[in-house]
Amino acid sequence: MSDHLTVVDHPLVQHKLTLMRDKGTSTAVFRQLLREITQLLAYEITREMPLTTRSIQTPMEDMDAPILAGKKMALVSILRAGNGMLDGVLELVPSARVGFVGLYRDEETLKPVQYYFKAPEGLKDRLVIAVDPMLATGNSSAAAIDLLKDAGATDIRFLCLLAAPEGVARMKEAHPDVPIVTASLDRELNEKGYIMPGLGDAGDRMFGTK
Ligand code: URA
Repeated sequence: MSDHLTVVDHPLVQHKLTLMRDKGTSTAVFRQLLREITQLLAYEITREMPLTTRSIQTPMEDMDAPILAGKKMALVSILRAGNGMLDGVLELVPSARVGFVGLYRDEETLKPVQYYFKAPEGLKDRLVIAVDPMLATGNSSAAAIDLLKDAGATDIRFLCLLAAPEGVARMKEAHPDVPIVTASLDRELNEKGYIMPGLGDAGDRMFGTK
């Protein structure tokens, strides 16, 4: 994957995203849509996973058929909203190992503060996909990627639902080697660090905490 930012403009993704943005959408539907859209985005982010071939017999004849080359995956949720994207990817890649990075955003400085980190073994040999629905200032995302690199990860991708231009720029500056896949590049951040037009607080919307 060479481009730093990929916006997935597939009609199904855009349709589901509109339903998610709508403030009238219920918590249950929001969560279901996030799971579905994550699968469509995961399809894109795994596009270049290496393939090899395996000799098999179809009912008709022998063939050398394509199969994943066995590069293992680690899926890393940036808590807490990243958890809403885990199941969608795990349904596609059930053998993926899962890690968690806990960072909260200081409401005044907007800077990330770490409170939890747990990653699978052997990160350096895995395709690492970090998931967080909202790439806003990019501070917590960049800090999460720092932690993953410190833990040995070298092949990292970042999967989000919405990205702000400010967050993309911050990630490009801090981690130009980490491609980003998103459903939308929104207009801007507001003065509180929320994405505009955005969808509000993704964690509150998926967990019904507001
Ligand atoms: N986190 C969210 O949940 N929403 C935003 O708009 C920005 C950060």
